[in-house]
Amino acid sequence: MLLDFTTTSPRDAYLWMISTIMPRPIAWVSTISVDGRTNLAPYSFFQGVCANPPTLMFVPVNNRQGEKKDTIRNIEAVPEFVVNLVSHDLGLQMSQTAALLPHGDSEFEKFGIASTPATTVRPPRVAAAPVSFECSLDRIVHFGAGPLAANVVFGRILTVHVADAMLSPDGKPDPIKLDLIGRMGGEEYTTTRDLFTMERPD
Ligand SMILES: Cc1cc2nc3c(=O)[nH]c(=O)nc-3n(C[C@H](O)[C@H](O)[C@H](O)COP(=O)(O)O)c2cc1C
Repeated sequence: MLLDFTTTSPRDAYLWMISTIMPRPIAWVSTISVDGRTNLAPYSFFQGVCANPPTLMFVPVNNRQGEKKDTIRNIEAVPEFVVNLVSHDLGLQMSQTAALLPHGDSEFEKFGIASTPATTVRPPRVAAAPVSFECSLDRIVHFGAGPLAANVVFGRILTVHVADAMLSPDGKPDPIKLDLIGRMGGEEYTTTRDLFTMERPD
């Protein structure tokens, strides 16, 4: 099978991409509006970028009407955010926060998700998240225009919270304790419980 992505509709290209580029880590992103209203939403077009300087990226695309989502609107107004990682026990709450709420309504309040103040940025972090990255906006890079066009957010990582219970005796994060989930296509997810090792050549 051969797909000609130069003629495929954005919607179909999106469906093929999310069901082949996987598993994807999930950034559960908290932001705040200028008038102090909090927002929380999941984004799985998400990756680390580099450690010098410590940088990550995630991608809020425009909605089907071609409008910007609340997360990007907030970051454009208040250029700070927290990327919280999602453990298996937080999966259902994470999924709830993908709901379409009116701009200004807080997913923290609507779904009873406990927040706690961040250390270096104004948006709060998810209290139960195993890891939270506090970030300042580095830049937004736009791809395309209209529905599903991308606003790629690059964030400078300022502070990282790792719950003490997630650490192994040597002080490093224990992947089994973190128990993170990843997004597959559509509504499917995967756990990170099935680990194996592989030697890397010199
Ligand atoms: C696991 C998961 C991953 C998602 N990843 C993305 C993504 O990478 N980009 C995107 O624009 N929307 C993504 N969404 C959809 C957004 O979360 C959804 O549109 C949400 O309403 C946006 O909220 P906001 O308007 O408060 O920012 C994802 C949803 C889920 C459940």
